[in-house]
This record gives sequence, C-alpha cells and structure tokens, in this order.
Amino acid sequence: MNITRFSFPTDIHFGPGARKLVAQHLLEAGVKRPLIVTDSALAALPVLAEFRSQLAGLDVVVFDGIFGNPTCAMAMAGARSYKLHRCDAVIGFGGGAALDVAKLVGLMAVHDGDVLEYVWDHPQVRPIVNPLPPMVALPTTAGTGSEVGRSSVVSENDTHHKRTVFSPKILPRAVFADPELTLALPPAVTAATGMDALTHNIESYLSPAYHPLCDGIALEGLRLGAYALATAVNEPGNLQARSDMMMSSMMGAIAFQKDLGSVHACAHALGAVNDMHHGLANALMIDTVLAWNFEAVPAKFDALAHAAGVIGGGAAFVPWLQSLKGGIGLSGGLAQRGVTLDHLPQLVPLAASDFTGRTNPRPAIEADYERFFRQAM
Ligand SMILES: NC(=O)c1ccc[n+]([C@@H]2O[C@H](COP(=O)([O-])OP(=O)(O)OC[C@H]3O[C@@H](n4cnc5c(N)ncnc54)[C@H](O)[C@@H]3O)[C@@H](O)[C@H]2O)c1
Ligand SMILES: [Zn+2]
Repeated sequence: MNITRFSFPTDIHFGPGARKLVAQHLLEAGVKRPLIVTDSALAALPVLAEFRSQLAGLDVVVFDGIFGNPTCAMAMAGARSYKLHRCDAVIGFGGGAALDVAKLVGLMAVHDGDVLEYVWDHPQVRPIVNPLPPMVALPTTAGTGSEVGRSSVVSENDTHHKRTVFSPKILPRAVFADPELTLALPPAVTAATGMDALTHNIESYLSPAYHPLCDGIALEGLRLGAYALATAVNEPGNLQARSDMMMSSMMGAIAFQKDLGSVHACAHALGAVNDMHHGLANALMIDTVLAWNFEAVPAKFDALAHAAGVIGGGAAFVPWLQSLKGGIGLSGGLAQRGVTLDHLPQLVPLAASDFTGRTNPRPAIEADYERFFRQAM
C-alpha cells in the first residue's frame, strides 16, 4: 500500500508509514518545538515512543494529561503546558479524546478566558480572532474522525455535560492518517470506536438535510466499514482492514457536517451521566433508535442495506447491525454496562435537548428517548 495525499477537507497523508512524514512537514513549516498532545494510557505504550523516535531534529514536549471523556480543565492544562514550554506547534496524537483536546490547546494557547466561553452555544460566545499555531493530527483509533472535523467535544468540569467548540479554524492543518498506528488497538476499543464510525456514516445519511455530497461519502464510508469492522476486531494485525476502518472513520466525520441524529443524542447523555465511552454508547443505542427511524424513511434504509451488502433490503438492516455487534463482542445492553432505571431522569432530558437529535429523520421527544433507553437496557 502507498501513501496517498488528499486535500479534502484538509491536507491528508493517508497510508501505512504516513507518520514518518510528520518531522519533515513540521521542519519545512519552520517548527522547532512541537507539543504532542496525547492521552495518559497511550503515552505509556510503545506506539508513542516509536512515533517520537521519528521526530529527529525537533525539540519535542509531551502533554499527556488526558483520560476518559476529556474535560475543559484538561484542555486548559494543555494550553498552560504549551505556553510554559514556549512551543510553536501542536501534534494531536491519539483517539478522539486526545485530538479534540489538541485542537483546544491550540485555541487556548493564543486566546484569553476559559475554553467554555468558546463553545458554539455560549450566550456570549467569544470570537476566535488570533491565528492558531500550526496543528497536525495523527489518529490512533478509527472512530471519531476528529482529525478531519471542525469541532471539538469537551465535557464541563463539574456536570460532565458535553459541549462543542465549532469553527473551521480548529481543523488540523494536516492529517497523517497511518493505519499502522491502530495495529495495537485492543479488540474492545476497535469494536466500540468502529461502531462510532459506522454510526456517523449511517446517521448523517439519514439526516434530512439536503447534502448529496455528504450522502455519497456516507454510503461509501458505510460500505468500507461494514466489510472491514469484524475483520479489524478479530484479526487485529490485518492492515487492509485497519486501513479501511481509518478511511471509513474519516469519511463518517466528513459526512456528518450534514449532521447526526438521535443515536448521538443518547450517546452524549450516556457520556455525561455514566461517563460511558462515546463509541460504546452509540453501539448500545443504535439498533433501538434505527428500528424506530425505519418507518419514517424506508427507502433510505434500502440504500444503507445495499451499501453494507445486506441481503433483504432496508428491513434487514437493523438485524444485520445486531448480528455484526454480536460478532464483535458488543451484544448485551445498557444494564450490563452499569446503567440503571435510576439514571433515566437525568438521561432523558439531556438526550432530548441535545442538538444532534434535531436532525433525526423522525422527530423524537422525551417520551421517545425514555423508551429508547428502556429498550436498550
Ligand atoms: N470531534 C468530533 O467530531 C468527535 C466525534 C465523535 C466523538 N468525539 C469525542 O471523541 C472521544 C472518543 O474518542 P475515541 O473513541 O477515539 O476514544 P479515546 O480517544 O477515548 O480512546 C479510547 C481508548 O483507547 C486508547 N487508545 C487509543 N489509541 C490506541 C492505540 N493505538 N493502541 C492502544 N490503545 C489506544 C486510549 O488510550 C483510550 O484509553 C469522546 O470524547 C467523544 O466525545 C469527537
Ligand atoms: Zn460519534
């Protein structure tokens, strides 16, 4: 496999070994002291040490204060580290958590105030006025596609509610998408993050907004993921499957410029209330929500089934998803992951007010969300 270069929506170097191009890219841009922003678990693994060894000629600093669903405090700590060490570029290295924080480190390195003042729905949202330091992104999971996205999802420190900073200015300047970085990703994380990628492709296609470009990308992203996910989980060293999942993940994130749906509304609530991993939350909710959506847009489910190679048309799509989940260790429901009926009073209003649900193909109200959570138990 070769490394291919795309410029859509940003500069993407895609292929095994793409990480080895980062040093030259940064040196050519005049960078001397980049800050690697990564999560604490990843920082201890050989994959980061190997990547660092590829950065000869650069005075590299590492900020690894990220874990779980990242908080505003983590982003602010990263920005302090950037300023303390007088860095001049950001390297986001990790899953969606690390990449989202890396975007905010660049933002808060050159802007005043707290990161929460920059979330899109803040009543007095502050403008992004200063040029951000150059940022490159290296995804090490195949799920969120954050590396090609204009948003960063961060949790409030105390409530853990998920908030979003949205601006084209936080899009990484270049992406080095190297599927070899995901070869050591454990099967459970591969499965959960892969379901996030599939959910992005599916929900963006189902969203009613008019965006044929995104629709085309979503269907092809689904096709790649549908064929590759089980192989990536069950044969972790299969580079072709890892590569297809990384591409499916990026395509899902490009497609969801068109918006998402109620699966994500539920997942954001589960992230806030139960601190559940985002991809796992989508995986546990997707069949329940999609089974309800099917009646509203059956022709679109036919297209999803066709793209995923499912025989039997749109009505067979949700059963196919359920069998896919069973084959990658994601059967079972919310109850097995510590969610109880006592959580419903918090989960339901959060999900019903989440902005991603506004573009669900079938408008859902609180009573619908309560039913989704009960069924997914
Ligand atoms: N910006 C966006 O558009 C967007 C979209 C969806 C989700 N998100 C956010 O992304 C986050 C979830 O990201 P994620 O699903 O990638 O999970 P993650 O970043 O939390 O990573 C999951 C786990 O995998 C480990 N890991 C990562 N790469 C590894 C590797 N190569 N080998 C071994 N272990 C590895 C990490 O240490 C971590 O423990 C959430 O905070 C979610 O809100 C953002
Ligand atoms: Zn998602």
